[in-house]
Amino acid sequence: MARHLITSAIPYINGIKHLGNLVGSQLPADLYARYLRQRGHEVLFLCATDEHGTPAELAAAKAGKPVAEYCAEMHDVQAKIAEGFGLSFDHFGRSSSPQNHKLTQAFATRLAEVGLIKEVTEEQVYSVADGRFLPDRYIEGTCPNCGFESARGDQCDNCTKQLDPTDLIDAHSTISGSTELEVRETKHLYLRQSELKDDLAAWIESKKDWPILTTSIAKKWLTDGDGLQDRGITRDLDWGIPVMKGDDVWPGMEGKVFYVWFDAPIEYIACAQEWEDAGKGTDWARWWRTDKGADDVTYTQFMGKDNVPFHTLSFPATIMGTQEPWKLVDYIKSFNYLNYDGGQFSTSRGRGVFMDQALELLPSDYWRWWLLSHAPESSDAEFTWENFQTDANKDLADVLGNFVSRITKFCRSKFSEAVPAGGAYGPAEEQLIADLTTRIRAYEGHMDAMEVRKSAAELRAIWVLGNEYLQANAPWTTFKTDPETAAMQVRLALNLIRIYAVLSAAFIPDASKSMIDAMQTNDDTWPTDVAAALNALPAGHAFTVPENLFRKITDEEREEWAARFAGTRDAGE
Ligand code: MF3
Ligand code: ZN
Repeated sequence: MARHLITSAIPYINGIKHLGNLVGSQLPADLYARYLRQRGHEVLFLCATDEHGTPAELAAAKAGKPVAEYCAEMHDVQAKIAEGFGLSFDHFGRSSSPQNHKLTQAFATRLAEVGLIKEVTEEQVYSVADGRFLPDRYIEGTCPNCGFESARGDQCDNCTKQLDPTDLIDAHSTISGSTELEVRETKHLYLRQSELKDDLAAWIESKKDWPILTTSIAKKWLTDGDGLQDRGITRDLDWGIPVMKGDDVWPGMEGKVFYVWFDAPIEYIACAQEWEDAGKGTDWARWWRTDKGADDVTYTQFMGKDNVPFHTLSFPATIMGTQEPWKLVDYIKSFNYLNYDGGQFSTSRGRGVFMDQALELLPSDYWRWWLLSHAPESSDAEFTWENFQTDANKDLADVLGNFVSRITKFCRSKFSEAVPAGGAYGPAEEQLIADLTTRIRAYEGHMDAMEVRKSAAELRAIWVLGNEYLQANAPWTTFKTDPETAAMQVRLALNLIRIYAVLSAAFIPDASKSMIDAMQTNDDTWPTDVAAALNALPAGHAFTVPENLFRKITDEEREEWAARFAGTRDAGE
């Protein structure tokens, strides 16, 4: 039994994530957490909302609410949706928590102590009408290079030229539209992460077993250099963690807050403190401090590829920089993008299916299964309604659902609602046991390695073995001439339902629970020994015929949904 710390990238507070975001972080993290718990490991699975920054402030203003109130409400909304998807966080925290305030301030104070913080005076665009400094992407104007009218302060999306806000012609604030912009001086704290470049490079180099997607992004940023320029860790904003040194306001930093990307990953640690303070467990330090037992912990992070630079370089720089015994991540599982029906999911344009909408259409297991079995691991993947309908119907209804309903109904009609006695295994059963054993070992291997698609494919193949067995041995025919053998076949198949429930729980927890409930057992033992597992439900054990586990998605539904989600919705960003 080992100890596993698992975190998923923490979703921004404003707006609700789409299915592409879900499959790139929270969902595979949940799959892994559930699997490891089932295998008897001690797991701490954490996630939170990422609550600071300009987008949160603007979303609150748009909603006409004080930002603290807006964030508290949206946290609850996201927590409910996460629950709807069966995401089994041990704690779903908030980056605005008092714990994170303290810890973020302590990290900055410590980094200053060891000489890794410098103060930089820079020029930034200030919007008089908005009463705030504007991040570059909130400034738009005409591109001096190509004449495109909505070029952003950092880049022209038309000709891709990198820009400075002061290059723009007729620059204006995208918040208010005001052109009354001034360049003002402002002072910020910078983390001197360039000092840590060699340490970080050596650390990344040592991670031979990491996914190529993760290390290739990290190495590109290391060698291109831009990833390791000293980076500003403070901002001129109202909403955020005040810049403090020890217990006092940092001299010269009055009214400023830490940059959201500085405090967000620190929330991974603060979240463990929140978990402990909420009375859900004891000793956060046992998970996070290598001097307090976290040496034994395996720490795995899940995220989309856009998050990789922050997790391979910036956050490790924060941690390493302190020279304190904090736990560093052991494995970073990153994902490509899931596209939507010939284009991209888009939060800003509201394109695609968002988590709350998905749950209104179908129970979460449909989404969990389809998304995980099509996880964008080796390349980008695509969600289409045709593929969703075809694969969900085939795998869930035709293969798994059909197996369960066929055998339970047959047993009820020819025997009773109890596992029948009699008969003995023959070569077909020995072969099935051998095949199942091979496949279950392969499944375990893929799950241990976080190979999500391969795991799903193996699980599907395990379900198929059951159907093929029934097809080839046809207990309904056997029954007419040899009821004893038919009883044995039915007993085996009923036991397979329990085994399927256990093996499938991490993918489709609700259906798995229905199967276990229908088999009227609490025995959720992992089928390490398949032959033994096939005797878990003995002759005479009562069961019930479950409701249809999975209904089919109809052509009408598919067409209606495809049309409904082709448009846009206001995603609040
Ligand atoms: N909020 C970011 C996103 O949704 C992820 C932050 S992850 C953490 O892309 F490192 F900040 F924790
Ligand atoms: Zn341009």
